[in-house]
Amino acid sequence: MKRILITGALGQIGSELTLKLRELYGADNVIATDIKKNDSETAFSGPFEILDVTDAKRMMEIAKKYQVDTIMHLAALLSATAEVKPVFAWNLNMGGLINALETAREVKAQFFTPSSIGAFGPSTPKDHTPQDTIMRPTTMYGVNKVAGELLADYYYHKFGVDTRGLRFPGLISYVALPGGGTTDYAVEIFYEAVKHRSYTSYIDKGTYMDMMYMPDALNAIVDLMEADSSKLIHRNSFNVSAMSFDPEEIAASIAKFIPGFKIDYQVDPERQRIAESWPNYIDSTAAKEEWGFKFDYDLDRMTQDMIKKLTEKFQLKKPG
Ligand code: SER
Repeated sequence: MKRILITGALGQIGSELTLKLRELYGADNVIATDIKKNDSETAFSGPFEILDVTDAKRMMEIAKKYQVDTIMHLAALLSATAEVKPVFAWNLNMGGLINALETAREVKAQFFTPSSIGAFGPSTPKDHTPQDTIMRPTTMYGVNKVAGELLADYYYHKFGVDTRGLRFPGLISYVALPGGGTTDYAVEIFYEAVKHRSYTSYIDKGTYMDMMYMPDALNAIVDLMEADSSKLIHRNSFNVSAMSFDPEEIAASIAKFIPGFKIDYQVDPERQRIAESWPNYIDSTAAKEEWGFKFDYDLDRMTQDMIKKLTEKFQLKKPG
């Protein structure tokens, strides 16, 4: 990775990944793109171009203009939004992906795109979900992710594009909010905890999903992309998870740092249905064995850091 093009750079992952890659590889070598510009540090700390990922011609032009050798394709609609606009989701998620893969093929770039726990479905084994298992998702987002994994593997086998991917769990961070995912409750809960010491969850108690703190997700992307290609048996995509909890467990962790924190429930049937179709916890052994996946944050460590960072962000009095 020497010159990197990022799509969806102002989204939940991109906002932080762009800054990390600029630190590691030099600000001018990381070209951020998104459909709109905002006033964030990500948009102004290095090259930025407006790019709608369904515009294949413009994507190719930008890749050639900057002579990129790596493409990180992050632009996509998340699970709950994709259920509201399934045709738009198909067009954006699949159209954007094939444009990005074609661009990578043409400019001979290494390629990364995230998959998700959403690629699994109700018939997938729920506990210790293996790397290679049944994948019959029942959401548009999941259909896009499975098709995307297969397409990225196809580009590797057919055209020799060095494609790599991660099946991310819910990602938790204090920088950019996720937009329209099912796991978003595990981010919102921290904002509400810091501001109001209480949270009404749209996901029911007893619903377990995999999660990961953003710094671990960013390290995983860099480690996978820097991994020795000859060691990779799998490519698209690797199971990676740092923790699994239900709303009661995350609430209990928050209450350790914000005494008196309360959770109650108003379940959203649609997002609950999506959550129930996903695994309880996935097995990350292949990622550990093939490229040394590791993580630093468990639930309590993440909770402590999220509360500290959000308290600073809102310049609130220390909780407790
Ligand atoms: N966080 C994503 C979502 O909930 C899962 O990949 O849609």
